[in-house]
Amino acid sequence: MKQPHSIEYLQQLVIDRLKEKAGKIGQTRPVNLYQPIEYTLNMGGKRLRPVMLLMACDLFGGKVPQALNAAIAVEIFHNFTLLHDDIMDHADIRRNQPAVHKKYNENVAILSGDAMSIMAYQFLLKTESPAIQKVTQLFSKTAMEVCEGQQYDMDFENQTSVNIDDYLEMIRLKTAVLIAGSFKMGAQLALATDADADRIYRFGINLGLAFQLQDDLLDVFAEQEKFGKKTGGDILANKKTFLLLKALELAKPEQKERLNHWLTKKDFDPLEKIAAVKQIYTDLNLKKISQQKSDDYYLAALNELQAIELESDRKKPLILLAKTIMKREH
Ligand code: IPE
Ligand code: IPE
Ligand code: MG
Ligand code: MG
Ligand code: MG
Repeated sequence: MKQPHSIEYLQQLVIDRLKEKAGKIGQTRPVNLYQPIEYTLNMGGKRLRPVMLLMACDLFGGKVPQALNAAIAVEIFHNFTLLHDDIMDHADIRRNQPAVHKKYNENVAILSGDAMSIMAYQFLLKTESPAIQKVTQLFSKTAMEVCEGQQYDMDFENQTSVNIDDYLEMIRLKTAVLIAGSFKMGAQLALATDADADRIYRFGINLGLAFQLQDDLLDVFAEQEKFGKKTGGDILANKKTFLLLKALELAKPEQKERLNHWLTKKDFDPLEKIAAVKQIYTDLNLKKISQQKSDDYYLAALNELQAIELESDRKKPLILLAKTIMKREH
């Protein structure tokens, strides 16, 4: 069998196709609908999910060009979720640039986001494959689960009884299923067996959990310039992250009282709240504990990949991608 394609090659395919298809979309009228879409798709991002889809397709011997529209669909869908997520999270900066609801306004971000979710289907349905029905069903199921995860994320902001299992289920839905679904769609387009498609899905779930645990860690401890998003946002919104839940579990009575003080305080100086909560996380060694939890899922992901009966050489780009993700700073 031929050598698998590299991460860089697949990433370039995605970037080129996005540029070709979405590059001039902003000239379409009404421009207030389409310009924010062009703005979003041109603002970069790691392009992880489309690369994952193409990699899985490649792994199981499928034709990469045939999967490209589906890969673009996944990336457009992901970008749509970011438009709405930034409204919901009151996040003003994305990829070091103003979020769409800030650069334009909230209504624009809502409607352009809606249009992007429809565009995602338009790209997906350009795919010519005997597996297209299966792939579309998986895409729809995944999209619905992302909404469920996002709703839990919102609900949990105002809930005090959230436990770590609730958190893991929430991030499985809001983040891991799209990563896992991207891998599985690629496998399905390559006409892999159901058993293999399920294995790569589980690889993706574990990698996705590791990824969101890291995102939550970066939200507190990253260098803002590198991260591209404002740090401390999760603390301000009382997001029930692993860090916060573990802190509540490990805190001594005095620390717990301080944490609860900040969680319930209505009027506060944002920077003061971020600094105070971050200090408690640091005192409780939560950076390390959280990283360990993320690493556990990373290792579980690699185990799933091992179970796929293919030459290890073919899995190399996937392993490299997973490793790169685990070392990311943005
Ligand atoms: C951000 O995803 C949303 C999360 C699930 C944490 P990415 O970190 O993949 O965002 P971009 O596309 O690279 O900007
Ligand atoms: C991302 O969760 C989940 C989705 C966008 C579906 P976050 O809210 O943590 O993502 P960022 O940190 O804003 O990218
Ligand atoms: Mg957010
Ligand atoms: Mg969010
Ligand atoms: Mg985040």
